[in-house]
Amino acid sequence: KTVAIVGCPFSGGQTKAGVDKGPIHLVDAGLPEQLAHLGWKVLFDGHHQFEEISAANDPPIGKLKNPRMVSKVCQAVAKQVGEHAKRGELPLTLGGDHSLAMGTISGTFEKYPDACVVWVDAHADINTPDTTDSGNIHGMPVSFLLGIGTKVPEFAWVKPVLKPNRIVYIGLRDVDAGEKRILKENGIKAFSMHEVDKYGIGKVVEMALDHVNPNRDRPIHLSFDVDALDPSVAPSTGTPVRGGLTFREGHYICETIYETGCLVAVDIMEVNPFLSDADSVKQTVAVGCSLVRSALGETLL
Ligand code: ARG
Ligand code: MN
Ligand code: MN
Ligand code: MN
Repeated sequence: KTVAIVGCPFSGGQTKAGVDKGPIHLVDAGLPEQLAHLGWKVLFDGHHQFEEISAANDPPIGKLKNPRMVSKVCQAVAKQVGEHAKRGELPLTLGGDHSLAMGTISGTFEKYPDACVVWVDAHADINTPDTTDSGNIHGMPVSFLLGIGTKVPEFAWVKPVLKPNRIVYIGLRDVDAGEKRILKENGIKAFSMHEVDKYGIGKVVEMALDHVNPNRDRPIHLSFDVDALDPSVAPSTGTPVRGGLTFREGHYICETIYETGCLVAVDIMEVNPFLSDADSVKQTVAVGCSLVRSALGETLL
Protein backbone atom coordinates (compact mmCIF):
# COMPACT_ATOMS: atom_id res chain seq x y z
CA LYS A 1 0.00 0.00 0.00
CA THR A 2 1.37 3.32 -1.17
CA VAL A 3 0.21 6.83 -0.33
CA ALA A 4 1.26 9.72 -2.59
CA ILE A 5 1.23 13.09 -0.87
CA VAL A 6 0.15 15.91 -3.18
CA GLY A 7 1.07 19.14 -1.38
CA CYS A 8 -0.93 22.03 -2.78
CA PRO A 9 0.17 25.41 -1.45
CA PHE A 10 -2.70 27.30 -3.01
CA SER A 11 -5.01 30.02 -1.71
CA GLY A 12 -6.58 31.51 -4.87
CA GLY A 13 -10.04 30.07 -4.20
CA GLN A 14 -10.54 32.57 -1.37
CA THR A 15 -9.06 35.85 -0.20
CA LYS A 16 -7.32 35.23 3.16
CA ALA A 17 -3.55 34.84 3.10
CA GLY A 18 -1.95 31.80 4.71
CA VAL A 19 -4.00 28.79 3.63
CA ASP A 20 -1.32 28.15 1.01
CA LYS A 21 1.05 27.45 3.92
CA GLY A 22 -1.19 24.66 5.29
CA PRO A 23 0.46 21.79 3.42
CA ILE A 24 3.96 22.89 4.44
CA HIS A 25 2.95 22.88 8.11
CA LEU A 26 1.28 19.46 7.83
CA VAL A 27 4.39 17.93 6.29
CA ASP A 28 6.78 19.71 8.67
CA ALA A 29 4.72 18.37 11.59
CA GLY A 30 5.81 14.90 10.51
CA LEU A 31 2.84 13.58 8.56
CA PRO A 32 4.94 11.57 6.04
CA GLU A 33 6.83 9.84 8.87
CA GLN A 34 3.59 9.19 10.76
CA LEU A 35 2.08 7.45 7.73
CA ALA A 36 5.24 5.43 7.18
CA HIS A 37 4.94 4.34 10.81
CA LEU A 38 1.44 3.01 10.03
CA GLY A 39 3.02 0.75 7.41
CA TRP A 40 2.43 2.83 4.29
CA LYS A 41 5.01 3.40 1.61
CA VAL A 42 4.98 7.21 1.41
CA LEU A 43 5.76 9.09 -1.78
CA PHE A 44 6.38 12.80 -1.42
CA ASP A 45 8.48 14.67 -3.93
CA GLY A 46 7.97 18.19 -2.58
CA HIS A 47 5.05 20.56 -2.69
CA HIS A 48 3.50 21.40 -6.03
CA GLN A 49 5.02 24.45 -7.68
CA PHE A 50 2.22 26.39 -9.34
CA GLU A 51 2.97 28.88 -12.07
CA GLU A 52 1.50 32.11 -10.86
CA ILE A 53 -0.86 34.20 -12.94
CA SER A 54 -0.64 37.76 -11.68
CA ALA A 55 -3.86 39.28 -10.38
CA ALA A 56 -3.55 41.95 -13.08
CA ASN A 57 -3.84 39.21 -15.71
CA ASP A 58 -6.68 37.46 -13.92
CA PRO A 59 -9.59 39.86 -13.52
CA PRO A 60 -12.92 38.46 -12.29
CA ILE A 61 -15.15 36.61 -14.73
CA GLY A 62 -18.63 37.55 -13.61
CA LYS A 63 -18.33 37.28 -9.82
CA LEU A 64 -15.59 34.63 -9.90
CA LYS A 65 -12.32 35.73 -8.28
CA ASN A 66 -8.97 34.53 -9.69
CA PRO A 67 -10.77 32.29 -12.18
CA ARG A 68 -7.86 31.56 -14.53
CA MET A 69 -5.47 30.82 -11.68
CA VAL A 70 -7.93 28.50 -9.91
CA SER A 71 -8.71 26.70 -13.16
CA LYS A 72 -5.07 26.18 -14.09
CA VAL A 73 -4.05 24.98 -10.63
CA CYS A 74 -7.00 22.58 -10.35
CA GLN A 75 -6.30 21.17 -13.78
CA ALA A 76 -2.70 20.49 -12.76
CA VAL A 77 -3.89 18.87 -9.52
CA ALA A 78 -6.37 16.70 -11.43
CA LYS A 79 -3.53 15.40 -13.57
CA GLN A 80 -1.32 14.66 -10.55
CA VAL A 81 -4.06 12.94 -8.58
CA GLY A 82 -5.20 11.00 -11.66
CA GLU A 83 -1.68 9.77 -12.38
CA HIS A 84 -1.11 8.62 -8.81
CA ALA A 85 -4.49 6.86 -8.74
CA LYS A 86 -3.78 5.12 -12.04
CA ARG A 87 -0.52 3.78 -10.60
CA GLY A 88 -2.55 2.22 -7.80
CA GLU A 89 -1.35 4.76 -5.23
CA LEU A 90 -3.68 6.54 -2.81
CA PRO A 91 -3.43 10.29 -3.44
CA LEU A 92 -3.48 12.36 -0.24
CA THR A 93 -3.97 16.00 -1.18
CA LEU A 94 -2.99 18.63 1.38
CA GLY A 95 -4.60 22.04 0.89
CA GLY A 96 -4.75 24.78 0.37
CA ASP A 97 -8.29 25.99 -0.07
CA HIS A 98 -11.20 23.74 -0.99
CA SER A 99 -11.43 24.89 -4.63
CA LEU A 100 -8.67 22.30 -5.08
CA ALA A 101 -11.28 19.55 -4.74
CA MET A 102 -12.37 20.38 -8.27
CA GLY A 103 -8.97 19.00 -9.25
CA THR A 104 -8.69 16.13 -6.80
CA ILE A 105 -12.15 14.71 -7.49
CA SER A 106 -11.68 15.07 -11.26
CA GLY A 107 -8.45 13.10 -10.88
CA THR A 108 -10.08 10.37 -8.79
CA PHE A 109 -12.89 9.90 -11.31
CA GLU A 110 -10.39 9.45 -14.17
CA LYS A 111 -9.34 6.20 -12.57
CA TYR A 112 -12.59 5.33 -10.72
CA PRO A 113 -15.66 6.48 -12.71
CA ASP A 114 -17.98 4.74 -10.25
CA ALA A 115 -16.52 6.44 -7.17
CA CYS A 116 -18.52 8.30 -4.55
CA VAL A 117 -17.59 11.33 -2.46
CA VAL A 118 -17.96 11.87 1.28
CA TRP A 119 -17.69 15.64 1.82
CA VAL A 120 -17.09 16.63 5.45
CA ASP A 121 -17.52 20.38 5.91
CA ALA A 122 -19.39 23.17 7.68
CA HIS A 123 -20.22 24.40 4.16
CA ALA A 124 -21.75 22.77 1.09
CA ASP A 125 -19.32 24.47 -1.36
CA ILE A 126 -22.01 24.06 -4.01
CA ASN A 127 -22.61 27.67 -5.05
CA THR A 128 -22.65 28.26 -8.79
CA PRO A 129 -21.20 31.30 -10.58
CA ASP A 130 -24.81 32.55 -10.46
CA THR A 131 -25.61 31.98 -6.78
CA THR A 132 -22.29 32.92 -5.14
CA ASP A 133 -22.24 36.01 -2.95
CA SER A 134 -18.53 35.99 -2.16
CA GLY A 135 -17.17 35.12 -5.61
CA ASN A 136 -14.72 32.81 -3.82
CA ILE A 137 -14.36 29.63 -5.85
CA HIS A 138 -13.67 27.51 -2.72
CA GLY A 139 -17.43 27.87 -2.14
CA MET A 140 -18.21 26.33 -5.56
CA PRO A 141 -16.22 23.19 -6.46
CA VAL A 142 -19.15 20.79 -6.07
CA SER A 143 -21.35 22.66 -8.56
CA PHE A 144 -18.59 22.53 -11.18
CA LEU A 145 -18.16 18.78 -10.63
CA LEU A 146 -21.93 18.27 -10.98
CA GLY A 147 -22.02 20.40 -14.13
CA ILE A 148 -24.73 22.76 -12.84
CA GLY A 149 -24.89 26.55 -13.20
CA THR A 150 -23.67 28.89 -15.90
CA LYS A 151 -20.76 27.44 -17.84
CA VAL A 152 -17.51 29.37 -17.66
CA PRO A 153 -15.25 28.62 -20.67
CA GLU A 154 -12.08 28.73 -18.54
CA PHE A 155 -13.37 25.68 -16.67
CA ALA A 156 -14.36 23.66 -19.74
CA TRP A 157 -11.85 20.94 -18.74
CA VAL A 158 -13.94 20.12 -15.62
CA LYS A 159 -16.19 17.26 -16.68
CA PRO A 160 -19.50 16.65 -14.85
CA VAL A 161 -18.16 13.41 -13.37
CA LEU A 162 -20.20 13.60 -10.20
CA LYS A 163 -23.84 12.48 -10.04
CA PRO A 164 -26.02 14.01 -7.30
CA ASN A 165 -26.54 10.59 -5.66
CA ARG A 166 -22.80 9.94 -5.47
CA ILE A 167 -21.98 12.68 -2.98
CA VAL A 168 -23.01 12.91 0.65
CA TYR A 169 -22.29 15.65 3.16
CA ILE A 170 -21.58 15.45 6.87
CA GLY A 171 -21.22 18.41 9.27
CA LEU A 172 -23.05 21.19 7.42
CA ARG A 173 -24.19 24.24 9.38
CA ASP A 174 -23.52 27.30 7.21
CA VAL A 175 -25.32 26.78 3.92
CA ASP A 176 -26.34 29.75 1.75
CA ALA A 177 -29.98 30.12 0.63
CA GLY A 178 -29.08 29.40 -3.00
CA GLU A 179 -27.14 26.33 -1.93
CA LYS A 180 -30.10 24.99 0.07
CA ARG A 181 -32.20 25.25 -3.07
CA ILE A 182 -29.57 23.43 -5.17
CA LEU A 183 -29.32 20.63 -2.60
CA LYS A 184 -33.13 20.21 -2.63
CA GLU A 185 -33.57 20.45 -6.39
CA ASN A 186 -30.91 17.82 -6.99
CA GLY A 187 -31.97 15.55 -4.13
CA ILE A 188 -28.47 15.64 -2.62
CA LYS A 189 -28.20 13.88 0.74
CA ALA A 190 -26.76 15.96 3.54
CA PHE A 191 -26.33 15.28 7.25
CA SER A 192 -26.06 18.62 9.00
CA MET A 193 -25.03 19.10 12.61
CA HIS A 194 -28.74 18.77 13.42
CA GLU A 195 -28.69 15.15 12.28
CA VAL A 196 -25.38 14.54 14.07
CA ASP A 197 -27.05 15.75 17.29
CA LYS A 198 -30.21 13.77 16.63
CA TYR A 199 -28.80 10.38 15.59
CA GLY A 200 -25.20 10.46 16.81
CA ILE A 201 -22.19 10.23 14.57
CA GLY A 202 -22.22 6.42 14.38
CA LYS A 203 -25.67 6.29 12.82
CA VAL A 204 -25.00 9.32 10.60
CA VAL A 205 -21.90 7.77 9.02
CA GLU A 206 -23.76 4.50 8.50
CA MET A 207 -26.68 6.31 6.82
CA ALA A 208 -24.30 8.40 4.73
CA LEU A 209 -22.44 5.34 3.46
CA ASP A 210 -25.72 3.45 2.88
CA HIS A 211 -26.77 6.32 0.63
CA VAL A 212 -23.67 6.70 -1.58
CA ASN A 213 -22.25 3.21 -1.24
CA PRO A 214 -25.02 0.77 -0.23
CA ASN A 215 -23.04 -2.39 -1.03
CA ARG A 216 -19.72 -0.95 0.12
CA ASP A 217 -18.27 -1.77 -3.29
CA ARG A 218 -17.69 1.72 -4.67
CA PRO A 219 -14.39 3.55 -4.32
CA ILE A 220 -14.64 6.40 -1.80
CA HIS A 221 -13.05 9.84 -2.12
CA LEU A 222 -12.99 11.59 1.28
CA SER A 223 -12.84 15.39 1.04
CA PHE A 224 -12.37 16.76 4.54
CA ASP A 225 -12.50 20.52 5.21
CA VAL A 226 -11.09 21.09 8.70
CA ASP A 227 -13.76 23.73 9.34
CA ALA A 228 -16.21 20.83 9.70
CA LEU A 229 -14.66 20.50 13.15
CA ASP A 230 -15.72 22.89 15.86
CA PRO A 231 -13.51 26.01 16.03
CA SER A 232 -12.46 24.92 19.53
CA VAL A 233 -10.93 21.84 17.87
CA ALA A 234 -9.60 23.36 14.62
CA PRO A 235 -9.36 27.13 15.14
CA SER A 236 -6.89 28.02 12.36
CA THR A 237 -9.12 28.08 9.31
CA GLY A 238 -10.52 30.84 7.13
CA THR A 239 -14.26 30.40 7.59
CA PRO A 240 -14.86 28.93 11.07
CA VAL A 241 -18.44 28.25 12.15
CA ARG A 242 -19.37 27.41 15.72
CA GLY A 243 -21.32 24.28 16.60
CA GLY A 244 -19.12 21.83 14.69
CA LEU A 245 -17.92 18.25 14.99
CA THR A 246 -16.00 17.23 18.08
CA PHE A 247 -12.48 15.84 17.85
CA ARG A 248 -13.83 12.30 18.17
CA GLU A 249 -16.70 12.77 15.71
CA GLY A 250 -14.24 13.94 13.05
CA HIS A 251 -11.93 11.03 13.68
CA TYR A 252 -14.80 8.54 13.82
CA ILE A 253 -15.78 9.49 10.27
CA CYS A 254 -12.23 8.86 9.06
CA GLU A 255 -11.87 5.57 10.96
CA THR A 256 -15.16 4.23 9.63
CA ILE A 257 -14.35 5.09 6.03
CA TYR A 258 -10.99 3.35 6.41
CA GLU A 259 -12.77 0.26 7.76
CA THR A 260 -14.87 -0.03 4.58
CA GLY A 261 -11.71 -0.84 2.65
CA CYS A 262 -13.06 1.36 -0.16
CA LEU A 263 -11.03 4.52 0.41
CA VAL A 264 -9.08 5.60 -2.69
CA ALA A 265 -8.32 9.30 -2.11
CA VAL A 266 -8.22 11.82 0.73
CA ASP A 267 -8.21 15.63 0.77
CA ILE A 268 -7.43 17.59 3.90
CA MET A 269 -8.27 21.21 3.25
CA GLU A 270 -8.39 24.76 4.65
CA VAL A 271 -5.71 24.59 7.35
CA ASN A 272 -4.57 28.23 7.60
CA PRO A 273 -1.50 28.70 9.82
CA PHE A 274 -1.72 32.51 9.57
CA LEU A 275 -4.95 32.58 11.58
CA SER A 276 -5.17 32.54 15.39
CA ASP A 277 -2.26 32.32 17.79
CA ALA A 278 0.69 29.92 17.67
CA ASP A 279 -0.95 27.37 19.99
CA SER A 280 -4.09 27.27 17.83
CA VAL A 281 -2.01 26.73 14.72
CA LYS A 282 -0.15 23.87 16.37
CA GLN A 283 -3.43 22.33 17.49
CA THR A 284 -5.06 22.64 14.05
CA VAL A 285 -2.05 21.18 12.25
CA ALA A 286 -1.89 18.31 14.75
CA VAL A 287 -5.59 17.59 14.23
CA GLY A 288 -5.10 17.63 10.46
CA CYS A 289 -2.35 15.03 10.78
CA SER A 290 -4.36 12.82 13.11
CA LEU A 291 -7.44 12.91 10.84
CA VAL A 292 -5.25 11.63 8.03
CA ARG A 293 -3.77 8.91 10.22
CA SER A 294 -7.29 7.76 11.17
CA ALA A 295 -8.33 7.68 7.52
CA LEU A 296 -5.23 5.63 6.72
CA GLY A 297 -5.79 3.02 9.33
CA GLU A 298 -4.60 4.20 12.73
CA THR A 299 -6.67 2.47 15.38
CA LEU A 300 -7.19 3.22 19.05
CA LEU A 301 -6.46 -0.34 20.14
N1 ARG B 1 -20.75 29.70 1.25
C1 ARG B 1 -19.69 30.65 1.39
C2 ARG B 1 -19.20 31.10 0.02
O1 ARG B 1 -19.73 30.72 -0.98
C3 ARG B 1 -18.56 30.08 2.23
C4 ARG B 1 -17.79 28.96 1.59
C5 ARG B 1 -16.71 28.43 2.48
N2 ARG B 1 -16.00 27.39 1.81
C6 ARG B 1 -14.89 26.79 2.28
N3 ARG B 1 -14.30 25.88 1.50
N4 ARG B 1 -14.39 27.04 3.46
O2 ARG B 1 -18.27 31.86 -0.08
MN1 MN C 1 3.38 13.56 -7.22
MN1 MN D 1 -15.87 24.80 4.96
MN1 MN E 1 -15.04 23.44 2.16
